[in-house]
Amino acid sequence: MPQPQASPELGTIAFSPGGEEWIEFGPPDARRRIGFHDYAELYAVPGLYERVFYGELGMCSATEVVGLLAETLEAEEVDPAGLRVLDFGAGNGAGGEELRRIGVRSVVGLDLEPAAAAAARRDRPGVYDDYLVEDLGTATPEELQALAARGFNCLVAIAALGFGHVPAAVLERTLALVPSGSLIAFPIADVLLPDRADADARATGYPELLEGLLDGRLARSVAERPYRHRVTTTGEDHLALAVVARTA
Ligand SMILES: C[S@@+](CC[C@H](N)C(=O)[O-])C[C@H]1O[C@@H](n2cnc3c(N)ncnc32)[C@H](O)[C@@H]1O
Repeated sequence: MPQPQASPELGTIAFSPGGEEWIEFGPPDARRRIGFHDYAELYAVPGLYERVFYGELGMCSATEVVGLLAETLEAEEVDPAGLRVLDFGAGNGAGGEELRRIGVRSVVGLDLEPAAAAAARRDRPGVYDDYLVEDLGTATPEELQALAARGFNCLVAIAALGFGHVPAAVLERTLALVPSGSLIAFPIADVLLPDRADADARATGYPELLEGLLDGRLARSVAERPYRHRVTTTGEDHLALAVVARTA
């Protein structure tokens, strides 16, 4: 994936010892610390998000999930040019860029973070037809209806689901934006899979929602592939499942 122009000021990247609490970067005389998941701060510095997550931690979800989507389209003889994709939790556009690369012609980004929209315009101009800054958790029925009227037939959410990300109830709401038979593509952490989840994982609501997304009640899985989403800052594998499903 081409990297946006990184500032020469990024210096070496250091992480909080133990848990994923902060990231430190910058030249020796001007080191800065920001929260590990403080996306507004991360996106504000050109190239920092890519350097930390894609570079240092080997994150590869955009290529894995969009790659699985491309294989599914090919197997089903569906032209990617016919997809109208909502890239949910789009960040600064890594997923959008991959979607364009496989031949998708219509991609709208959505993120609740205004800094994400600004960074996507800065880092990947032209990737999104439109970029919406909205919280679908608090969107009114009229706002949701207006979004649905945009005619999306594919929902993609890359590295945006799970612990500390989009709540399961918000993802469930978002499913209503696409008609029956639409494709959805996302990665999900192994620990949230219905057959692996512990009590903390169950409390997120994801394992239960996933059951419905895989077994046909809300959607039926058409392709799945286990992969390593990234490593943690302490070097453990952060395993995930890439999923492509069709909505019921
Ligand atoms: C790890 S980033 C992933 C960004 C991008 N999809 C990628 O693959 O590089 C997660 C993104 O999800 C967004 N996000 C978290 N909760 C959200 C919500 N409820 N609605 C929309 N976006 C959300 C964050 O602001 C952040 O930009």
